[in-house]
This record gives sequence, C-alpha cells and structure tokens, in this order.
Amino acid sequence: MNQAERDLLTDRLISLLRRKPGQYFDWAKLMSKLQVKRTSVVAALSRADDWEYKVRINRTKGVKFVAPPDLLTAAEILHGLKTRQLGHVVHAYRSVKSTNDLAAKLAEEGASEGVIVTAEAQTKGRGRLGRDWFSPPKTGIYVSIVLRPAFPPEDAPGLSVMTAVALADTLAKWRPGLVQIKWPNDLWINGRKVAGILTELSAERNGINHVIVGVGINVNHRAGDFPPELRASATSLRRELHRKADRLDILRLFLLNFEKEYAVYSRYRLKKSLPRVRKYSALMGREVTLQSGHTRLSGIVKDFDANGALLLQAANELEIVTAGEVTVVKQ
Ligand code: BTN
Repeated sequence: MNQAERDLLTDRLISLLRRKPGQYFDWAKLMSKLQVKRTSVVAALSRADDWEYKVRINRTKGVKFVAPPDLLTAAEILHGLKTRQLGHVVHAYRSVKSTNDLAAKLAEEGASEGVIVTAEAQTKGRGRLGRDWFSPPKTGIYVSIVLRPAFPPEDAPGLSVMTAVALADTLAKWRPGLVQIKWPNDLWINGRKVAGILTELSAERNGINHVIVGVGINVNHRAGDFPPELRASATSLRRELHRKADRLDILRLFLLNFEKEYAVYSRYRLKKSLPRVRKYSALMGREVTLQSGHTRLSGIVKDFDANGALLLQAANELEIVTAGEVTVVKQ
C-alpha cells in the first residue's frame, strides 16, 4: 500500500466507525468491510490516533468510535459535505509549506477538478504580492482547490472575485451584515482582514491547464495570536464573535457555496453575482488610490464588471482596472 492508499484506508475506517458511534465493530466485520487484514486495520487505527481521533480498541470486542478531533481531517470534512463533486477527494495534512504549492503539484500530476488540499498549519503560507500568510495550527482554515475550467485564460482573474463572493456568503452566516469584500480578494469584518484568496493560473496559448484557488480564513485566533505587525489590520471570526467557531462547518459551507458560484461563473462569469459583489463591497463609492505595478491612480470606485474588474472614476475618465492594490482614502 502506498501513502495515498493508507490514508484512504484510514478515512474509510473512520467513516465506517462513525456510522455507529459508541458501539463496537468486531474485528471480523472491520476486516471484511475494508477488505484488509487485521494488521492493516491496526495500522489505520494508529494513523487515526495520530490525527487525535478518540477510539476504544478492545482485543476481543473490536473497535468503537468515541469522538472526532478538533482538526480538519479528510474524514471529518467529508462527513456531512453536501457538494456534488467539490472536495470529494481531500488531501489533508497536519503541516505543509503551502497548500497552493501542493495542489499545483497534484494538478500537474493530473488531479481532476474539485480535488482539495487542506492543512492544519502552513510553514510557508503564501499571500498575494509575495507576502506571507500567517498559518498557525488549530485556528485557521487553509484550503486550496484544483480547477480545470473550460473558459479562456483571460476569464480566470474574475475567479478571485467569485471566490470572495462565496466566502462572503459563508462568513456572513457567522457575522451577518458585517462581512465586506475589499476588491479583489480580501474579506473584511469591521475594517480588518479576516480572510484572503490567492488564485494561481497555469495556462498555455491554447487554454488553461489548471487554476489553484487558495483560501486562508482566520477563524479561532485570539488577538494575541497574531504577530504584532498584524494585530491592528487582521481579525478572526472568534475575535468578532467573542466565541469559537466550528472550522469544519465553515469549510463545508464554503465548499458548497464555492461549487454553486463556480457553476454560475462558468456560464455567465460575474453577471449574475454583480448585485452581491456590490452589496459586499467595502469600496463602492469610496475614494481610493490604486497601485498597479508602477502605475498609481486615484479616484472614486463606481462599480465592478462581469469580469471582476473595478471601474474607477479617475480625474478625466472611467478606468477599467483589472489588478492592483487598493487603499481607501480616509475621509
Ligand atoms: C492574501 O490575502 O494575500 C492571500 C492569502 C491566501 C492564503 C491561502 S492559505 C491556503 C493557500 N495556501 C497558501 O500558501 N496561500 C493560500
């Protein structure tokens, strides 16, 4: 058995045990259901233990499920996931450098659309513009999604805004009315960043090979968990709610919302989502400065278009801006 097969066996074992929580599965039944020897079941139980699953093992009675861990394991993500296809293959890790890098590697090796990579922690989590993404264990959600869109590469940038809408709809369930999108791909609550999106495209002249959409959400960080340089600008759901939030519920709802948005985007781009892009926008009607490469523009944000571009009323004309870093001018 290779590593992937061993992980899959662990997920299947957990799913099986979960069907009858508190009741023993005898060894013979486990072996026949999983079609493996007792030694393989024991090895899978040891991997479940590494993931902090609570199971009781009895030499004669068999094995029973006691409690799941507070971790993003593949079996927990799949348990109650309502998507049609997205996230049905989960590569879940305790710690990786960057889930986006791993997802890109899997995509290059042929991973199909909808495969996701998650991690409890990242040692080199990446943000936009070469920044780091603070990724401590047991507090955040770090997930990357493999996409293989049929549309042309020039339609890919709007995926960031599409993802931001799916994320805003998700987070709004925990903090209704306060979630905002700071174009193109930051999520804010009370003016502080709660989540970010890093969309990476691999394309050739004849089309897109794959897109990796990476999402980082600050869920259960306390204010003091953030490094001092982030404390003023970053927040977490816990900081805003004054209680912990269930990361699995958030991740599963986000995947469901993402799948719906992506199906619509694939046909209509952002045309159908523009009302929500506007509703969630932290920038509509605001005076901003925009830095894009060496170009700096100032003006009022008028609207967004179906490709996710920002429409900026500058001194003399309406500029259609497709990328850049926006700063709101304080009034
Ligand atoms: C940003 O706001 O600058 C984007 C942050 C994106 C962070 C996520 S966490 C999961 C995925 N893996 C990474 O290395 N980055 C993205």
